[in-house]
Amino acid sequence: MERKDQTAPGLHFVGKKDDLIQAKRSFRTLDGRDVLIIHHEGVFHAIDSYCHHAGGMLQNGDIEEINGKMCIICPKHKYKITLAEGECLYKGKDPRENPSVTRWFSKGVKQRIHVVTESDGNVFVKLSVSPGWIESDYYQGEKGKVERAKA
Ligand code: FES
Repeated sequence: MERKDQTAPGLHFVGKKDDLIQAKRSFRTLDGRDVLIIHHEGVFHAIDSYCHHAGGMLQNGDIEEINGKMCIICPKHKYKITLAEGECLYKGKDPRENPSVTRWFSKGVKQRIHVVTESDGNVFVKLSVSPGWIESDYYQGEKGKVERAKA
């Protein structure tokens, strides 16, 4: 089904808006990258489909709001990943605080997020070109794919 919109370089057509809304979660391979497209509470998201931690299948994860951010919960080890930024959140205490209180912290961006746009009922994804290594890149590469297949 993959086709690119010739009028906008780098945009991949991923489906009709109504179909993607009905599906809620859709898996696409775009330029060899496996991407999960999510429609949740009126918003589209596109995220690398394998968890940065150990390649868990994010398409099977629950979605919930954590600390004001919509997160997908990896079904494998329950890591929480924000859908808008790809940050991994964890609960902990800052020992420098007195008294220290349990709250949410970010490990930083660990999952690559892609840009979703809509036009005339069609939905497009532009793959992230953020420079540098993002941990979810590993499971898109050959070594990571082999490792996922063994798990
Ligand atoms: Fe996702 Fe471990 S593989 S939390």
